[in-house]
Amino acid sequence: MVDVSPGRLTPGPVSSGAASPRQVDAATTPLAEARGVGRTFTVGGQEVTALRETTLQVRPGDRIALLGPSGSGKSTLLHLLGGLDTPTTGTVSWPALGEANTLRPGKVAFVFQAQSLMPPLTALENVALPLLLTGATPKAATGEARRALDTLELLPLAEQLPEELSGGQAQRVAVARALVTRPRLILADEPTGQLDSVTAGHLMDVLLSALEPSSALVMATHDEAVARRLDTLWRMEGGGLLSRATKEGPS
Ligand SMILES: Nc1ncnc2c1ncn2[C@@H]1O[C@H](COP(=O)(O)OP(=O)(O)OP(=O)(O)O)[C@@H](O)[C@H]1O
Ligand SMILES: [Mg+2]
Repeated sequence: MVDVSPGRLTPGPVSSGAASPRQVDAATTPLAEARGVGRTFTVGGQEVTALRETTLQVRPGDRIALLGPSGSGKSTLLHLLGGLDTPTTGTVSWPALGEANTLRPGKVAFVFQAQSLMPPLTALENVALPLLLTGATPKAATGEARRALDTLELLPLAEQLPEELSGGQAQRVAVARALVTRPRLILADEPTGQLDSVTAGHLMDVLLSALEPSSALVMATHDEAVARRLDTLWRMEGGGLLSRATKEGPS
């Protein structure tokens, strides 16, 4: 079993000082916690291990890159951390956020590896949708969605349908949709995979500056340069979390 505790940005235990118990809880309570989590699939009678038993926590302020070759389990882990999939062994919980059925839309947001925009809706409508689902008025949702698109320099594409966008543009709209509710936990699956290096760098700038300090980001990527923009690096291979490191070195 791999035991991965929180990365460098995680506030350490508070033994004394001015913070009230309530403040301490808010700063350290994990947003997501996996205990002994494994996932197997049965394909044509054969069992495939997508994720070996893994224990980890994602805490407020974490900026984590998940790096590993194709098939190493990155998407599987992200899906489990977001409550989109159920583990075969172990448990996933969200101590700071509540039960699995309360996570979306609003508290946990995904940027999926595959194209995930709603085909009949324009870029603007796609980005407004999570706000409408959390009870915003159409006027407020549209205003917020415009601002999110503007941040990613996508406003000129607001009225276009997903089929009228390039793969990279669609992925940036998906990032705007993920950020628009100001979620506590963002799980991004290769959001820069279809972007050239300049656009990928810009997307990382925007994503990192748009994150609330107390929100957490876990991002799967193949790209070492993208991974280096984050504070903590988790390496995966063969369904296992091999190591973790911070900018200061292994931990
Ligand atoms: N729904 C599924 N049914 C069967 N096998 C699956 C399923 N999802 C994932 N797997 C298998 O689990 C393993 C891990 O897959 P996963 O998608 O997590 O890898 P990944 O690291 O995200 O790869 P990539 O970089 O190509 O996206 C792979 O061997 C994959 O074939
Ligand atoms: Mg994947």
